[in-house]
Amino acid sequence: MKQAIIIGASSGIGWELGVQLAAKGYQLGLMARREDCLQKLADSLPGTHFVQTTDVCQAEQAQEELTALIERMGDVALIIVNSGVGSAEKQLDWVIEREMIDVNVRGFAAMSMVAMNHFVKRGSGHLAGVSSAAAHFSGGLTLTYNASKAFASNYLNGMRSRAARSKLPITVTTIEPGFVETPMLMGTPIWTATVEKGVSQMVVALEKKKNHVYITKRWAIAALLLDITPNWVIRKFV
Ligand SMILES: NC(=O)c1ccc[n+]([C@@H]2O[C@H](COP(=O)([O-])OP(=O)(O)OC[C@H]3O[C@@H](n4cnc5c(N)ncnc54)[C@H](OP(=O)(O)O)[C@@H]3O)[C@@H](O)[C@H]2O)c1
Repeated sequence: MKQAIIIGASSGIGWELGVQLAAKGYQLGLMARREDCLQKLADSLPGTHFVQTTDVCQAEQAQEELTALIERMGDVALIIVNSGVGSAEKQLDWVIEREMIDVNVRGFAAMSMVAMNHFVKRGSGHLAGVSSAAAHFSGGLTLTYNASKAFASNYLNGMRSRAARSKLPITVTTIEPGFVETPMLMGTPIWTATVEKGVSQMVVALEKKKNHVYITKRWAIAALLLDITPNWVIRKFV
């Protein structure tokens, strides 16, 4: 049986990943803070699934919980690190900024590391991380979110290099959505995908073991333009 763990499965993209992967026959491990939401998802899916609460802000404890879940499930071949928080703030507020760093940077690295070590031990596997097209620029209202996603994308590139050095068949997929209709949607959305469409493109990329995917595909053009646009031009808009 194919087994996968989704970290950040209690709403939005992670919830829909659960729905679409279960429909493809995966047995899932569902992680996030809200147990009631995870249980509701597990109960709604075909088959039996595992629920494990975790708060990735408590990085070391979250690592132990992920390790325990991997052991409980048996043979996990795919781990998706999707948990994330975002905020567009007029005032710089350390409590909000710190949470973004704790979840999107410390939590992201902590969980990805456990996943990679598991796959090296297992001899193969697939790590996927949900970053953002926001990784390609910075903006005055979302500076910490953008920087945290730049970390995630860069970190996954490094994980891909480590996988190559290991000479093991380990895939690392970087997922960079533009705007997806979820509770997190913020800013001035353009080219917004429904969560069903966005996630179906993610699932195709996972099945094809792609290194990188933009959601939706047209965000590849935006990312390219953002990469070559000088900051003084970007500053006029964000
Ligand atoms: N929606 C968009 O337009 C968009 C665009 C680009 C990238 N993304 C990225 O996509 C990912 C999913 O976001 P979404 O849009 O689906 O938003 P969402 O519906 O708010 O989902 C966020 C998920 O992260 C989990 N999470 C947050 N803090 C956590 C913590 N401390 N510990 C464990 N889990 C935590 C939440 O679960 P609990 O609250 O239950 O813990 C929830 O399952 C994020 O990484 C986000 O940055 C979204």
